[in-house]
Amino acid sequence: MTAATSHRIGIIGYGAIGARVAEDIAAGKVHGAELVGIIGRSDPTKAHSAVERPGTTLTLEMALEHCDLIVECAGQAAVSEYAEKILSAGVDFLMTSIGALADQPLAERLHASGPGRLFMTSGAVGGLDILGAGAREADYDSVLVSTTKLPETLIQPWMDQAEAQRIRATGEPLEVFLGSAQEAARLFPRSLNVAAAVAEAVGNWDNVQVRLTADPAAALTTHIIEANGPSGEYRFEMRNNPSPDNPRTSAIVPFAVLRSLEAAIGERGGLV
Ligand SMILES: NC(=O)c1ccc[n+]([C@@H]2O[C@H](COP(=O)([O-])OP(=O)(O)OC[C@H]3O[C@@H](n4cnc5c(N)ncnc54)[C@H](O)[C@@H]3O)[C@@H](O)[C@H]2O)c1
Repeated sequence: MTAATSHRIGIIGYGAIGARVAEDIAAGKVHGAELVGIIGRSDPTKAHSAVERPGTTLTLEMALEHCDLIVECAGQAAVSEYAEKILSAGVDFLMTSIGALADQPLAERLHASGPGRLFMTSGAVGGLDILGAGAREADYDSVLVSTTKLPETLIQPWMDQAEAQRIRATGEPLEVFLGSAQEAARLFPRSLNVAAAVAEAVGNWDNVQVRLTADPAAALTTHIIEANGPSGEYRFEMRNNPSPDNPRTSAIVPFAVLRSLEAAIGERGGLV
């Protein structure tokens, strides 16, 4: 690798996703990428915060000066806080917390921002490539994202005690929500990244319905994506192991981010 092909990478968030992404870049496992450092705070409640972080601890200003691309692995609030500043500084931005784009005014601003480029990882799911291909020709007639996960991960701060307890104590699969992606974004923001990725792939948030099911037997988190339209009928099912560091996050996600990063850097050919 020459200096000319080395892309300088900053990471926001050093949790279940960010720590693995940072470590793999620092270990030279991402072709054409070098880790500059981590932006922002560490979380003292997380085990990996106790170990030494690779790279430098960066302020946003330092990152804008020294990075070509910044990867967000911190949450939707971090997207609102940092994304526009990053893109308008001419730095590329790869986001993990795609659910942030349910905020339509923010989404419009980010899609219009530049000269930095906005990338989104496919994260916990697959099939987005063919869904995006089909959407080029015509809108889908229907798109449904059904997610089944452990009850505890679906309990929200706005729920009253009785509702939270009904979900927590369920002995069988319990449908907690069925409605539009926009409504799901408002009520279950942490569970929306997958539906948001699908909505971005098909280019139409209004077309995407979301079903959330709490299942005490859901050792694996299941996402089923079903789409019907002029180009065909599609059904993808993902059953992901949870991350040992964060049961709300699937263990595959850091690797999806690393794959997205390699594609965004564009130093390699391969399946696109
Ligand atoms: N696209 C997907 O499929 C998918 C799947 C899982 C998670 N996610 C997103 O990824 C995010 C991170 O997941 P995780 O499991 O690594 O979470 P985590 O809680 O393990 O780690 C988050 C880290 O970000 C840091 N952080 C939070 N806000 C910050 C800020 N404003 N500035 C700097 N650092 C900040 C925290 O201190 C923590 O270290 C989630 O919040 C979620 O939005 C996306």
